[in-house]
Amino acid sequence: MRKHDATDRSRRTLLVSGGALILAAALWPANALAQAASGTKMRIGVIGSGRIGGTIGGLWVKAGHPVLFSSRHPEQLKDLVTGLGTLAKAGTVDEAIAFGEVVFLAVPYGAMPQIGRDHATALKGKIVLDAGNAVAARDGAIAEEVERDGIGATSQKYLPGARLVRAFNTLSYAIFAREANRPDPKLAIPIAGDDAEAVQVAAGLVRNAGFDPVVVGKLADAKRFQRGAPGYGQAVTAAEFKQKLSLTP
Ligand SMILES: NC(=O)c1ccc[n+]([C@@H]2O[C@H](COP(=O)([O-])OP(=O)(O)OC[C@H]3O[C@@H](n4cnc5c(N)ncnc54)[C@H](OP(=O)(O)O)[C@@H]3O)[C@@H](O)[C@H]2O)c1
Repeated sequence: MRKHDATDRSRRTLLVSGGALILAAALWPANALAQAASGTKMRIGVIGSGRIGGTIGGLWVKAGHPVLFSSRHPEQLKDLVTGLGTLAKAGTVDEAIAFGEVVFLAVPYGAMPQIGRDHATALKGKIVLDAGNAVAARDGAIAEEVERDGIGATSQKYLPGARLVRAFNTLSYAIFAREANRPDPKLAIPIAGDDAEAVQVAAGLVRNAGFDPVVVGKLADAKRFQRGAPGYGQAVTAAEFKQKLSLTP
């Protein structure tokens, strides 16, 4: 065999496998959407399995999603996962990220820089639903950053490359627990993100948890329903929420 035949063949192989990789990357969001649309339940990793992570993650388990709840002390999640049944597992934050096709982030906002330092690389390319709120008394200086730049931009700064969607931040976990899956009209959950497919996947997960998603806009628009903004704390229907924020009905 001539030397350049072998070189050509290996170049072709590289091109084909490179093409397959590009194709797979291009198809992934469509696959995620197709999966969500087909009723196949996406795997969800929860970071921060406290009041909000435990509540929303629990609603997803009840809807048939496999959920890995994480903690820096996973042994403390035994009661939570036992109570939810076989679709619920407990693990470390790294395990939750590896497990989840989608990650639900529900930690005190002051933990964001550390989550970014330790996990931003693993979260690159993942759909991440972020429920955090910045509370100055609890979270410190990062609350000023959020006030200045908006919460969407701030979360994205700490998690570059994550396909971020803001969701489930506006109401208390007790209201989510009480109102989930109520008869129509369901409780509105505002969401916002820059990645159109991630927003669609998030909307599907909001529905699966038993609520009505309202897409407010891009990540920058998440400031319209961040803590202290007009869209925050609204326990209303989608039609009422849209009216409140002058969104297209
Ligand atoms: N509570 C609500 O009703 C509600 C509603 C909407 C939005 N939010 C927002 O959601 C976030 C969580 O609130 P929460 O009330 O659910 O808090 P929480 O009950 O205190 O739970 C937070 C969980 O985050 C974990 N955590 C803390 N620091 C972490 C870190 N550096 N890395 C990984 N995990 C960490 C803790 O688990 P380990 O210590 O076991 O690791 C803890 O279980 C906050 O930003 C809050 O503003 C809360």
